[in-house]
Amino acid sequence: MSQSTNIVWHESHVTKEERVNLNQHKSAVLWFTGLSGSGKSTLSVALEKELHAQGIHTYRLDGDNVRHGLNKNLGFSPEDRTENIRRIGEVANLMVDAGLLTLTAFISPYRTDRDNVRALLDENEFLEIYVKCSLEACENRDPKGLYKKARAGEIKSFTGIDAPYEEPNHPEITVDTEIQSLEESVQVIINYLKEKQYID
Ligand code: PPS
Repeated sequence: MSQSTNIVWHESHVTKEERVNLNQHKSAVLWFTGLSGSGKSTLSVALEKELHAQGIHTYRLDGDNVRHGLNKNLGFSPEDRTENIRRIGEVANLMVDAGLLTLTAFISPYRTDRDNVRALLDENEFLEIYVKCSLEACENRDPKGLYKKARAGEIKSFTGIDAPYEEPNHPEITVDTEIQSLEESVQVIINYLKEKQYID
């Protein structure tokens, strides 16, 4: 890949702080990570609906709007997953700069990739949300029939089967979708955002 040269950063006359003040809530990334079928998308959709109803400016990034567009040239090799997460991290960073509470729902199986996104953002702007669910339960749910295909060898390098998932060591929030209902999980996150004064 060729590198850009002679590029000069052009400062805006409106700062992130000014945009955040106008919004009356902080901007940050709510980074959902977990196995396929753990509930990342369902949870982020429900949370965004609730935040929006409370007047919060949000945007949600997930496979549908990213792997079909920006990242449609990427597959599921370790290198491609890393590049997938790197690009999503850069986009999320721009959205945080725009003043949005940004929700991302990607497996993001590698700890280093998630930590690299955390490092891109300012302190307290990256909230890692571990959507915890055992492989067994995800496989029983199998909403898209992909685990079945992976077990049959029809999909290679499937996360949890023949590709790794590295659990977060110190996520800001953990929700256990085998124990908690969707409403409970949403409430846990809303409570965290209020307690830490991201939202009123
Ligand atoms: S990653 O690992 O973060 O780059 O993956 P992500 O962009 O979140 O894409 C995961 C969704 O792609 C489908 N899919 C696979 N997942 C895991 N491993 C393999 N090999 C694979 N092939 C396709 C699957 O539907 C994932 O969706 P979710 O919503 O997580 O179930």
